[in-house]
Amino acid sequence: MTTIKEALDNESLTGSTVTVAGWVRTFRNDRFIALNDGSTIRNLQCVIDQEQVDAATRARFNTSASVRCTGELIASQGSGQRVEMKVTAVEVLGDSPADKYPIQPKKHSLEFLREHAHLRFRTNTYSAIFRIRHQVSFGIHEYFDRHGYNYFHAPIITASDAEGAGEMFRVSTLDAKQPPLNEAGDVDFNEDFFGTESHLTVSGQLQAETAALALGKVYTFGPTFRAENSNTTRHLAEFWMVEPEAAFMDLHGDMDLAEGLCKHLIARVLKNSMDDLQFLDARVKEEEAQKPQAQRSEMGLIERLQFVLENPFERITYDEAITILLRSKPYQKKQFQFPVEWGVDLQSEHERYLVEKHFKKPVIVTGYPAQIKAFYMRTNAPGDFGYSDKGKTVAAMDVLFPGIGEIIGGSQREERLDVLEARMDEMGVPKEELWWYLDTRKFGTVPHAGFGLGLERFVLFVTGMGNIRDVIPFPRTPGSAEF
Ligand code: 4AD
Ligand code: MG
Repeated sequence: MTTIKEALDNESLTGSTVTVAGWVRTFRNDRFIALNDGSTIRNLQCVIDQEQVDAATRARFNTSASVRCTGELIASQGSGQRVEMKVTAVEVLGDSPADKYPIQPKKHSLEFLREHAHLRFRTNTYSAIFRIRHQVSFGIHEYFDRHGYNYFHAPIITASDAEGAGEMFRVSTLDAKQPPLNEAGDVDFNEDFFGTESHLTVSGQLQAETAALALGKVYTFGPTFRAENSNTTRHLAEFWMVEPEAAFMDLHGDMDLAEGLCKHLIARVLKNSMDDLQFLDARVKEEEAQKPQAQRSEMGLIERLQFVLENPFERITYDEAITILLRSKPYQKKQFQFPVEWGVDLQSEHERYLVEKHFKKPVIVTGYPAQIKAFYMRTNAPGDFGYSDKGKTVAAMDVLFPGIGEIIGGSQREERLDVLEARMDEMGVPKEELWWYLDTRKFGTVPHAGFGLGLERFVLFVTGMGNIRDVIPFPRTPGSAEF
């Protein structure tokens, strides 16, 4: 069998007889099947000889029926494609009754398609997105492998709360209605499967750190779970995260690694997915045209990718970010919903102002106030990039992207045992539970750093889609785990 991509692109196949199979997109004039097999966004036009295929069979070429066609690839009569197939044998493998198939060849809303998530891969939009998601995933492995990083599998079930966020899903085999109780009247997790309270991981970082302090460079890449009740276009309860961690790397190395990864992935998608990008680019343009002039983005999708690829990311401190925001028009006109003052976390509206309005390119912000960041981030001293005289800061870095806001969060880690312990006490992080993590600071501690990239947020950026539910096959969000 030949894929449709090969049939269309491999010129040496022209004139030969091949077999292709796929799903009918449309059947026109009782003669032309537009066949798609997922190997490319383009369809192969399969031309039926009406004398050879009876009317009963022709009536079965409905949208999404699966069909196998054999025939000669000939130079196309019509415009729009180089070759078409002159079909000599055709077989319907699986019918798709036209009165029942929910996705007709017309424009459906993304909301409607989300309700048919199991069939939406058969549309141009979603097949393009998921081919690109593959390119990005594969590119992640490629980038880290080339840079000497070992793919490290952090556990999915864990008894520690890496981010100290308290937004975790419990893993338990206890009877939910009548759990065993201890003397104090609380649920007795000693009786649970793991003999302790356990959860789905929110990050593989702490485990990756232990590995980096032996293997030098590692990265994790797997599903991550957060039970935060945020019903936004940027949050999922189950998402994929990539977390590199490297010994002997400081914050500057961390920023270089993050920027290098983003650019590698964009370059790979531009190289391998141009058909899909062109389709999505047109889709974005159509959407933009419906917005008021002032809200339209200045660049098309492909232009934006090229721009990000070619320009260095802006690197600023949190202090500088606050100064810019306080001087900004939306702040002066009281258009920001959330407050701006030294010490507060940057909200998505602030991040997007910095990226889209002020710098007009990706921005890396470092030196966030310690109180809004995780316990493991390294405390800044005078002279460190990101040090501030306004309050204690840490060697954090967030990478902010246009249209999205935060796409990467990372830091240099606190490698000094005494400073780390003091910070844990201050923040109420239980040291007993993390004894194994603290061991790495007791035995051969070294400066090290890493970050987490949210795969779906990155795929949102490269596909130009607006809702994170559209770039993961089966989204899990508050109140929704269907399929
Ligand atoms: O900034 P976060 O919370 O960082 C960590 O988890 C660190 N342990 C990473 C590290 O240093 N190794 O998450 C990292 C990234 C975010 O920048 C965002 O892109 C993504 O993960 N992310 C989410 N994506 C989708 N849905 C959610 N609920 C997300 N929460 C975080
Ligand atoms: Mg973050």
